[in-house]
Amino acid sequence: MSLRCHLLLCLAAVSAFAMSPPHMWTKLILTHHWPNTFCSIESCHHPNISYWTLHGFWPDKGNLCNASWHFNSSEIEDLLPDMERSWPDLLKPASSGFWKYEWYKHGTCAAKAPALNSQHKYFGKALELYHKVDLDSMLRKFDIIPSANYYKLSQIEGVIENFYGVTPKIQCVHPAENTDVQVLGQIEICFSPDFSLLDCEKEISSAGASAFSVCDPDVLVYYPPL
Ligand SMILES: *[C@@H]1O[C@H](CO)[C@@H](O)[C@H](O)[C@H]1NC(C)=O
Ligand SMILES: *[C@@H]1O[C@H](CO)[C@@H](O)[C@H](O)[C@H]1NC(C)=O
Ligand SMILES: *[C@@H]1O[C@H](CO)[C@@H](O)[C@H](O)[C@H]1NC(C)=O
Repeated sequence: MSLRCHLLLCLAAVSAFAMSPPHMWTKLILTHHWPNTFCSIESCHHPNISYWTLHGFWPDKGNLCNASWHFNSSEIEDLLPDMERSWPDLLKPASSGFWKYEWYKHGTCAAKAPALNSQHKYFGKALELYHKVDLDSMLRKFDIIPSANYYKLSQIEGVIENFYGVTPKIQCVHPAENTDVQVLGQIEICFSPDFSLLDCEKEISSAGASAFSVCDPDVLVYYPPL
């Protein structure tokens, strides 16, 4: 291959980069977890929580986008009561370590969008969407309640799809091989960059606790009560 050829390839690559920056995300994933399931696989130090809490608010592309943009809880002081309730650190409730981690890993990437380019905007928007989605009330309204009875995955998925009009990603913990039940663990609801609801992609494995994986449609789902 000639040098000229290399140069052309190089120019093509540069212009493609300019047209659609490969680092820019196109989707935001609002991830809820069910504390009781999370705490069955992790050693939690948190009193019983019987509602879905936030795990994260993740752009679909990028990790650790700006290591010099330090988490500073003073910047979200007015949000802290809601953060503690809605986005608690189930492992270390008294620390802000979880929020700091999420900010570095995902928030600094989300912040490439002007609408999310501060810690206050990022955490504030996550809380706003969490309350808007209000997964708890919705599930309860359609009789999906933590219970000793098992659900079909299609039942849970159907209720969410009918209500929000988009496909969620539902993840379970699979306690052991060849068991006839899986445990409901995480529900992701996705948004476009302008914060309207969007289908999630089930096949793409996202960041987060690796013990969770997409629920098996053929296995009954346990939604564990406290
Ligand atoms: C959790 O709640 C149950 C039932 O309400 C109670 O028996 C248990 O002591 C609680 N555990 C903690 C750590 O608060
Ligand atoms: C990273 O964050 C720092 C602190 O907010 C900021 O000054 C800097 O411009 C950011 N860098 C990039 C590439 O966004
Ligand atoms: C944290 O944020 C507050 C409020 O914006 C600011 O006054 C303070 O200087 C910041 N602290 C650091 C270490 O950046």
